[in-house]
This record gives sequence, C-alpha cells and structure tokens, in this order.
Amino acid sequence: MKTVLAYSGGLDTSICIKWLQENYNTDVITLTLELGQQIDLKKIEEKAKKLGASKTYSIDVRDEFVDNYIIPAIKANAMYEGKYPVSTAISRPLIGKWLVEIAEREKADAVAHGATGKGNDQVRFELAVRALNPKLRIIAPAREWDLNRDRAIGYAEEHEIPIGSRSRYSIDENLWGRSIEAGPLEDPMKKPEEEVFVWTSAPEKAPDRPEKIEIEFEKGIPVGLNGEEIDRVGLIQKLNEMGGKHGIGRIDMIEDRLIGIKSREVYECPAAVILLEAHKELERLVLTREENLFKESIDRKWTQLVYFGQWYEPLKKDLDAFIDRTQRMVTGRVAMELYKGNARVVGRGSPNSLYDLGLATYDKKDRFDHKLAEGFIRLWGLPSEIAGRRRRRNWKRT
Ligand code: ARG
Repeated sequence: MKTVLAYSGGLDTSICIKWLQENYNTDVITLTLELGQQIDLKKIEEKAKKLGASKTYSIDVRDEFVDNYIIPAIKANAMYEGKYPVSTAISRPLIGKWLVEIAEREKADAVAHGATGKGNDQVRFELAVRALNPKLRIIAPAREWDLNRDRAIGYAEEHEIPIGSRSRYSIDENLWGRSIEAGPLEDPMKKPEEEVFVWTSAPEKAPDRPEKIEIEFEKGIPVGLNGEEIDRVGLIQKLNEMGGKHGIGRIDMIEDRLIGIKSREVYECPAAVILLEAHKELERLVLTREENLFKESIDRKWTQLVYFGQWYEPLKKDLDAFIDRTQRMVTGRVAMELYKGNARVVGRGSPNSLYDLGLATYDKKDRFDHKLAEGFIRLWGLPSEIAGRRRRRNWKRT
C-alpha cells in the first residue's frame, strides 16, 4: 500500500508517518507545500526521510495560492462572521488538490492528513479530495488514534520522533494569516498571552507615528504599493511586515465551526486586514449602490461555502463569475494610515469613480437640483402614505 501524507514537518504530522506505517502497513510519501510559512523545505524532507518516509515531495505553491485562492478571497471581501479572513480555510482545497495530484502520479492507494475530528480542516481536505478523485481512500490518523496532546508526546518519545519546541498552541500559517488555537486560549474570557503573537507587535508597543501607505488595485487585484509595482507574493509579505509592526491584524473571536462547535480563535492577519479594508472601500467608490448592497450577500455566501469546505461546490464557481464581473471597475488607489493596531482608510480615487463632486458638494459649485428631491420623496413614500390613510380609516371604525 502507498499513502501520500500532507506533511507540515510539525509533531502531529510527524507522528502520522510512524502511525500510518504501524497501523496501515503502508509506504508513506510525504507532501509539503510552501504556502508562505517560511519553512525550510530541505530540512522537512530530511526529517520525513529519517522518520521512514519512502519518498518526499516539497513544492513552492505560493504563486498558485495567491492567484487562485487569495485573490478570489480579496475580490469576495471574505471575512467569515465579519472577522476571520478565512486564511486557513482557503489553503485546504489547494493542499487537497496537490494530494490528489501526487497520489495519481505515484499510483498511491490513499491520501492522509493530520486534521482532527473536531475541526473544519478535515472537511475541507476531504471534500476537495473526493471532488477530484473519489477512488482515493482518505486516512485521518488523528481521528482514529486515541492520542491527546500529552499522550502524543509519549508516542513521539517511544518512536524517536523529535519533539522539538512544541508550542502549547495549535498553529497554522500561510501568507494570508496565522491561526492560533487551543491551550490557554480555550478559556474564552482569558486574554491571549503575548507569546501567542509572532507576526504582530502589541499596539501599545507599535510606533508612535502613523505610517501612510497607498495600495493600487487593478480590476480588484492589488498590484502596487506606494506608487511602485510589486509582485503579488511580495506585496502580501510586505504588508504582513508593515502591518505587523503596527500591531494590525490581531483577531480574537468566538467562531462557529461547521461541525457545530463554538471555538475561541486567535489570528494574526495583517496583510489580509489591510487589503480587505482597502478593497472594500474601492468597491464603495466604483460600484453602484445596487451592486454594493447585493454583492454583500454574494460575498457572504462565497465566504460561507469556502469556510465550510465547499470549494468545489459548483455554486462557488457561479458566484466567482458574478464577483469577477463586478471587479472590472475596481481599479484605483486607496490611501491608508497604519497606526497602533488600526489600518484606517484616509483616501481613495479611481478613474472609474462614481463620486461626483458637483452632486455631493455643499458649496457654490453645487449642481444638484434640490427641487427634484421634493417630488421624489412624495413618490418614494407614497405606498406608506396610502397605507397610513387606511390605518387611520380603520381606527375610526373601531
Ligand atoms: N478555525 C480556523 C478555520 O477553521 C483555523 C483552523 C486552524 N487550524 C489550526 N491547526 N490552528 O479555518
């Protein structure tokens, strides 16, 4: 038997290598994807080999991740429950796709992942794999073994798996954000300890002067920073750095998982928070009122599908088509100030702007015909006026 395992190099997926060999008597091929976690792929491959992997793959998929996952999330203003930029969620279908790709290349029988039975990630991995190749068997060791976090350490020691500096938290990282769960965070009333944060400084320790930035978008895609063109991976890395320095993108929330559990989640997503804020503001400038209000509901549905693991649900593609069409006007610049944990929009402009100074102004350049408003309001309120008449008529009768 041959199994392709999504391998991060961390303790849990390292245990998976041994556990799969012991419990399924299978060859284990590891697959590690560079999604912006700043990992040493060589070292991870060496570690996998030492643990007995029969073959190892590592692939830098950052460009694919940005183009096909992060950019659609920006266009959809994707913030689950208004707070979480779905950073972990969008990485899972991509990992699932590569698991299938390598499994087919290697003629493997199964794929495996390290997600537990309580989370969203198992759903996301497995829906992706099943949509792409339902013949592949899926093994989720963490769902089968009875290892809690303490017993996992025991298992690792027994099997000579290096434990390293295992954190008290469960962490997932990619270009779009860093997710931190479990350990002391499980008390939802307790403030996260400072050790939780790696990408962001505490707002009170952030620089005392605001930093001004300008982001340029072309058809909904961020393409420039401070007047200079910048490649898409570089732009996100740069904004993670700048935003992190100013304490931006710390998120602390109670989140509704698909499985039905409420959980306490902490995130660090500086670039996502900055770019989503900027993108949405540009849409306000260039889309009509009808488009803006309607798109909110489409964006929410898109985000929900993605959070719930339905990346390959055809409706998601349908919504992508709608969203893409709305982005043809979303070209322009957004100026922001980064300061003490906030990314505040302070200016916006676009060749496609629908803002008309002659209509908006209160000074003498005003071109708006105020008299039109009177008739408009009469007709706008006419249905309620008629209903009001009926109400008063009926009162008199009773
Ligand atoms: N709750 C988030 C989600 O469902 C993040 C999960 C992160 N995973 C982790 N191992 N910390 O997308």
